Amino acid sequence: MPSVSSRLPVFPWDRLEPYKATAAAHPGGIVDLSVGTPVDPVPQLVQRAMADATDRPGYPTVWGTSELRDAVAGWCERRLGAVGVGHRNVLPVVGSKELVAWLPVQLGLGPGDRVAYPRLAYPTYEVGARLAGAEPVVYDSPTELDPTGLKLLWLNSPSNPTGRVLSLRELREIVEWARQHGVLVFSDECYLELGWEAEPVSVLHPEVCGGSFEGLVSVHSLSKRSNLAGYRAAFAAGDAEVLEELLLVRKHGGMMTPAPVQAAMIAALGDDDHVAQQRARYAARREGLRGALSRCGLATEHSEASLYLWATRDEPCWDTVGALAERGILVAPGDFYGPAGERFVRVAFTATDERVAEAVRRLES
Ligand SMILES: Cc1ncc(COP(=O)(O)O)c(C=O)c1O
Repeated sequence: MPSVSSRLPVFPWDRLEPYKATAAAHPGGIVDLSVGTPVDPVPQLVQRAMADATDRPGYPTVWGTSELRDAVAGWCERRLGAVGVGHRNVLPVVGSKELVAWLPVQLGLGPGDRVAYPRLAYPTYEVGARLAGAEPVVYDSPTELDPTGLKLLWLNSPSNPTGRVLSLRELREIVEWARQHGVLVFSDECYLELGWEAEPVSVLHPEVCGGSFEGLVSVHSLSKRSNLAGYRAAFAAGDAEVLEELLLVRKHGGMMTPAPVQAAMIAALGDDDHVAQQRARYAARREGLRGALSRCGLATEHSEASLYLWATRDEPCWDTVGALAERGILVAPGDFYGPAGERFVRVAFTATDERVAEAVRRLES
């Protein structure tokens, strides 16, 4: 049997284990800021919707219930400013990571095709290209890419790990360029509602897409905005033809969002109050950590949105990881996201208020 896993990058998190052990040995316990996993409660209204939907013996559909499609389309119009979103423009997925990882395969890409993504990026874009046997390509600016053989262009704004946000003008230029060259754009916008010093814009906004979703799909997740990482709840929205093809393939693959999760998604997408509450928690944690990092010599770059501070002491990232681990604080080395991150660390502000306050105290002592 040929090994598929040997095509994939080495899972880097094992390299962090010794630093985790050091941080865990701190008398006050570890403050783990290395991963962006939500720690606050699932909103009550979402828990109730999930609980009310436990008696669902039948198979769910891949396309989701009509109510879910309404909820997704309504959210896209309300929160993204997208116009004319119908049921054919939406597709639920089982958390966005599975879509990112399997999209090139599901689009039928393979050897000879190229898949591009930002030089500093969430590692799953590369994984997706490699699972399909396509060529992964990194970019600084997408419009400088050679379009030959380029079939899929990933955007990620706000960015993981840097928190950088693409402006409306940049997005419009990228969309124009991609359309000119027949390159399909998938825009991973899972941090879109987490802008702090910038207003993230979707590719589906009329001023970016010109009122047509042709060649454009945006990807959204409820993991971060609604603390639903454990539910696996996400969706794609945009070009109807692309989504129809994905729907056909995914039906054969049995990629169904469980029915109780679909009910939870409807409740979550219909409510903006819990998002505002969660944002306020993150804003306070971000403010505290950013100030403390800066006072102890770590400068932050970008970081205008998302759940991360992209910070540097202008030294190799593993030295910074080591120094912070000595204080009982675990962060992610920037080179996990590409060699260009080798002098940065990614500091997630998804820990509890108590742990973040402890990190601030340790950084300032
Ligand atoms: C940029 C980006 N895309 C996608 C995901 C996957 O999110 P989920 O699978 O929980 O929807 C993450 C998770 O951290 C991410 O940072």
